[in-house]
Amino acid sequence: MKQIYLAVGSVTGTATAVAERVALELKDLGHEVQLDSQASVAALTQQDFDAILVVTATTGQGDIPDNLLPFYAELGDTMPLQTGKPFGVIALGDSSYMNFCGAGEKMEERLYELQAVAPVPKVTIDATETVTPDDDAVFWLKEWSAAALA
Ligand SMILES: Cc1cc2nc3c(=O)[nH]c(=O)nc-3n(C[C@H](O)[C@H](O)[C@H](O)COP(=O)(O)O)c2cc1C
Repeated sequence: MKQIYLAVGSVTGTATAVAERVALELKDLGHEVQLDSQASVAALTQQDFDAILVVTATTGQGDIPDNLLPFYAELGDTMPLQTGKPFGVIALGDSSYMNFCGAGEKMEERLYELQAVAPVPKVTIDATETVTPDDDAVFWLKEWSAAALA
């Protein structure tokens, strides 16, 4: 059983619904999940999580949603190293925008800066191509969890 910190960035709720589904799947696999829609460095560092997951939409022009932006900034300001810790990013976006899944890219870069490791590359979920983002996320999650939570 592993402990996973699941940070969510969402504007209109799609990423939140995906994160809730992901949390259910992880719990079914026997893991503990802290789903956080107001993610913070304090919550991340309050216990020694085994892995970090980020589910985020992109807003504006490649921007991180308001409820995840403080976490992104705080991680950059305080640099709490996560050396060797597995992470994964589920990035929701829409390929008709210029910066497709830009928020997911930013979060991924930040976690790499903190020396976390991605056993499986992030997944991008395109609103123009799927109406079942939660199923797409779970498909990716199976591979990620096998690699990150073994
Ligand atoms: C105002 C607005 C701006 C957006 N900007 C981008 C963008 O720059 N890049 C991208 O890939 N998707 C962009 N999107 C698409 C959303 O990220 C996508 O629809 C996502 O599934 C929304 O998730 P949410 O309901 O959790 O906010 C934008 C959507 C809106 C409404």
